[in-house]
Amino acid sequence: MAEKILILGSEGQVGTDLAATLRDKYGKDNVVCSDIKPAIDEKLDLGPYVELNVMDRAALEAVFSEHKPTMVYHLAAMLSATAEKFPRKGWDLNMEGMFSVFDACIDHKVKRVFWPSSIAVFGPNTPRINTPQNCVMDPNTIYGISKLAGERFCEYYYEKYGLDVRSIRYPGLIGWKAKPGGGTTDYAVDIFHQALIQNSYTCFLKEDTGLPMMYMDDAIKATIDITEADPSQIKIRSSYNLSGMSFDPKTLSEEIMRQRPGFTIDYEIDGRQKIAESWPTSIDDSAAKNDWNWKPDYNLETMVAEMLKQLSAMGVGS
Ligand code: SER
Repeated sequence: MAEKILILGSEGQVGTDLAATLRDKYGKDNVVCSDIKPAIDEKLDLGPYVELNVMDRAALEAVFSEHKPTMVYHLAAMLSATAEKFPRKGWDLNMEGMFSVFDACIDHKVKRVFWPSSIAVFGPNTPRINTPQNCVMDPNTIYGISKLAGERFCEYYYEKYGLDVRSIRYPGLIGWKAKPGGGTTDYAVDIFHQALIQNSYTCFLKEDTGLPMMYMDDAIKATIDITEADPSQIKIRSSYNLSGMSFDPKTLSEEIMRQRPGFTIDYEIDGRQKIAESWPTSIDDSAAKNDWNWKPDYNLETMVAEMLKQLSAMGVGS
């Protein structure tokens, strides 16, 4: 049977890239995009789009009935920094949204579901270097708590209802097609925009705050690979550790300076520092490598080159 794919949260940082890749692969009419934002006329040529709030179960039900998806990517969520400002709203969206989608997937016998987790499931008691798949977690942000709870429900829905959910713990994601919103790792995207606009950047994290990061093309590859892997390859039913590269703001700025002489950075630390310090600096993703052959393509140098090239081509800074 031909696949019919539904992306929830298609206008977000991951959704924008994922939709483009899946539409190339499956044909635009076989990938239905949806987000809480109204449809934009120019984008409707790219393929079907539905304005949808995932919290609205009746509306979600109608979308499932009409489009009959075989695979669902549920990306709608509130990220770490915003959820700290609106804790109750963040919790409700991240958890209730997940329940609505998982329940609809069961009712409509959806074959596969992808649900993203995050490095935010780890906390201050977690070993920070080469963080293992299984270890003390104790997240202390609303976002992290909702993601850890969500991981437990991924496993629960698989065991109890046979729902084939797949999940990875995204590191900070760096891409040029869409900007992130409300995350702690967002500096690593904004820095490229500011580098091209004014050749300088004011960073909200301290220079030595190491975090796990990944170029968006690698994240999209991992997302599609795990979702399409044979069920026998998926041995972890909560969420897989995933690693691309690790760096701190100073190291990133030095690579940008190398590729763009004259670039300067300074620092004005805000509340996101505390969130970043509670997360790992690097991740052990050997389970993903062993189970479904995960391998990233990008390192710091190639990611920086690609970001500067693609954003320049889009006209940023000119
Ligand atoms: N990039 C996310 C954030 O900063 C972490 O998953 O919130």
